[in-house]
Amino acid sequence: MTGSNVRKAIFPVAGLGTRFLPATKAVPKELLTLVDRPLIQYAMDEARDAGIEQFIFVTSRGKTNLEDYFDAAPELEASLAERGKKRLLEAVRRTTLDAGQIASVRQHRPLGLGHAVWCARHLIGDEPFAVMLPDDVVASAKPCLKQMVEVHAETGGSVIAAMEVAPEQTESYGILDVMSSTGRVAPVRRIVEKPKPSEAPSNLAVIGRYILTPDIFDHLSAGTRGAGGEIQLTDAIAAEIDEGRNVFAYRFSGQRFDCGSKAGFLQATVAFALADPDLGAEFDDYLHAVIAMRKAAE
Ligand code: G1P
Repeated sequence: MTGSNVRKAIFPVAGLGTRFLPATKAVPKELLTLVDRPLIQYAMDEARDAGIEQFIFVTSRGKTNLEDYFDAAPELEASLAERGKKRLLEAVRRTTLDAGQIASVRQHRPLGLGHAVWCARHLIGDEPFAVMLPDDVVASAKPCLKQMVEVHAETGGSVIAAMEVAPEQTESYGILDVMSSTGRVAPVRRIVEKPKPSEAPSNLAVIGRYILTPDIFDHLSAGTRGAGGEIQLTDAIAAEIDEGRNVFAYRFSGQRFDCGSKAGFLQATVAFALADPDLGAEFDDYLHAVIAMRKAAE
């Protein structure tokens, strides 16, 4: 445990995953698999490693598979135990949490990330909490959310994961204007959702990990529409900054993959396959052979 008071995490998983159709016609995007773990499992494992004790899913119609994924599987576990498959049994057990540790609420209409977070307000109550977007997968020695929880224990306020992106990509992200600082943590002066490159205050982008304070719900309650006509989490954070509350950008250590895009998903698959103790060496040989063949054919 980290000694932090961040115990709850919200996972907004109501999106349709249209970029992965037709796969996502029947399988929620969050159950698409990197090597042998679905995206949601990476987020869950990261949250658990950060000391999170309560996991709140904001779901929508057609996402029941996702809730089933975290349910107990007594027949499967018994069969694996009987056959002495210890590693697999352990992997399956990691998908189940204690009774009452998981809750889900429905987002009835796709009104945006801010609205999704607001849907979980009654389950959060009056304490700081994390928001994790499972599309953003971060490979790092120390899990990204754990790094942030440690920062939050020092700074209080809100802590937002940040990384520099190519200047032409600002329209895909929340973009931060921060005060200068020498370390990884910088106070945020301004935050804007998906600005055009010509209007962006910087190229420091928000990545899908947030530690927020419950007063954010006051701003989300207003239901104000922002970029793309959606209720944006970014705008509620901007309102907090305007009120003089502390919001910090944290340049995390690690490599982030945008698994909401096909290219990012494939890059993550390659990176995680190479890092896998069972597959890595063989897969590395395979990749080298593919590259050599392509070079020879040029
Ligand atoms: C959301 C947020 C955006 C953030 C991004 C990170 O956008 O609104 O501020 O930079 O996640 O992945 P989305 O990717 O859901 O459009």
